[in-house]
Amino acid sequence: MSQFELTRTLPEDATGAALRADVLHGLTRTPKILPPKWFYDARGSELFEEITRLDEYYPTRAEREILIARAPMIAAATRASTLVELGSGSSDKTRHLLDALPGLHSYVPVDVSGSALTGAAEALLGERPDLRIHALIADFTAGLVLPDTPGPRLVVFLGGTVGNLLPDERSAFLTSVRALLAPGDALLLGTDLVKDEAVLVRAYDDEAGVTAEFNKNVLSVINRELGADFDPADFGHVALWNAEQEWIEMRLRARRALTAKIPELDLVVHFAAGEEVRTEVSAKFRQDGVRSELAAAGMELTHWWTDEANRFALSLATAV
Ligand code: SAH
Ligand code: TRP
Repeated sequence: MSQFELTRTLPEDATGAALRADVLHGLTRTPKILPPKWFYDARGSELFEEITRLDEYYPTRAEREILIARAPMIAAATRASTLVELGSGSSDKTRHLLDALPGLHSYVPVDVSGSALTGAAEALLGERPDLRIHALIADFTAGLVLPDTPGPRLVVFLGGTVGNLLPDERSAFLTSVRALLAPGDALLLGTDLVKDEAVLVRAYDDEAGVTAEFNKNVLSVINRELGADFDPADFGHVALWNAEQEWIEMRLRARRALTAKIPELDLVVHFAAGEEVRTEVSAKFRQDGVRSELAAAGMELTHWWTDEANRFALSLATAV
């Protein structure tokens, strides 16, 4: 019997339509913006994995440190039979949880990147042939329907990806996660913490330029999917700390005045020299903020764990 099932809840068409709508909206307004989920085609997922191995990018190592230290407590507190993971990517850190949960029946990774899901499943099944994996190609911000697997459920959302949602999107998202939780289920949420600005900026503007390439990958996605003629070399990568919002902002800055054609949208977009497109925010958190955002969505923070250096936090929460 096959232990791996891949369900696409995002029809290919819907992805195309959503990309067209986002690009049309985002590049015809001032200032220009693009939503971050379009970074993650196969190349984007690969580049993100490369980012997680950079010296400057501390969040992955910090979160792994917490998972290794706390997995036994997480297992004891949740006794999960189903582990649901939102934005699972390579599922690499998740192994620490999978190994710690003795009664685990099913693993449900959810991601917009089909290539990340199949890659992760291949690697996991190689080591754990008995694990049942129900992978979902889905947008975790759009009405997720989970497969019928045994409870209790532990929903995990790692990597600080919750910080890539804007405040309004974040509260809507947390409310939708709350709706997935039955009594006895739990949410494990990874959040990067507010810290020294130089450390933060370095994590999003590395020496080797991998993050710059990742940021520009969104232009390659638009070229391929919508027939556009962006030259990524025309744009510089910008990462800056917004102290008021407490988030890192990633932008692409036009190196010269230019015009791009996007035939699929019947659109010509003008950029002034130095004009920027905001491609992503990565919010950084404090414990009080996490607690109150969870409470506003109907959840109670029951555990807060950080790494030794206090860079990153894992929160465990239950529905109230
Ligand atoms: N959890 C992994 C990967 C984090 S990168 C880690 O901690 O290392 C963010 C992941 O979320 C990527 O795999 C990306 O494809 C996925 N993602 C981004 N936006 C998404 C969305 N709206 N719905 C589903 N997955 C999304
Ligand atoms: N969730 C990751 C984060 O906010 C995503 C990420 C890391 C990212 N580096 C990036 C997204 C660079 C865009 C560009 O840390």
